[in-house]
Amino acid sequence: MKIALGCDHGGFVHKTAILKHLEENGFEVQDFGIYENVSVDYPDVAEKVCESIQNSECELGILVCGTGIGMSIAANKHKGIRAAAVSEHFSAKFTRLHNNSNVLCLGGRVIGVGTALELVDLFVNTEFEGGRHQARIDKITQIENK
Ligand code: RB5
Repeated sequence: MKIALGCDHGGFVHKTAILKHLEENGFEVQDFGIYENVSVDYPDVAEKVCESIQNSECELGILVCGTGIGMSIAANKHKGIRAAAVSEHFSAKFTRLHNNSNVLCLGGRVIGVGTALELVDLFVNTEFEGGRHQARIDKITQIENK
């Protein structure tokens, strides 16, 4: 599975740790930056990560900003993207199981690096449950297509 990764300056430390962690665990990672800790606008990075999922280059995405919220708002403006801003374990798992989320958004100023790596593990290792949840996602897609 190939994972798209991106951050702004609020998430640089976490993104660096997540990249190393995923690669050490055998995942292929496409790193969309930032590559040094300079101030950038998070929607620009969210766009690159989301486009890589839209064009099937990557299967899942992980975005880190200060809160995870700006990245999730920006990511959810992209067709076919279901992004979840998450800061605890239950949601990291259930947003895959029930929402088939394809982008995990984390807050570098909200959670520590250790927690971030645990949430990443839950997210990338949990499969969508399908069934009744698919019909609900189809309704989200209908809203998106209006
Ligand atoms: C940048 O200072 C900060 O606003 C950004 O990282 C993020 O928290 C936005 O939601």
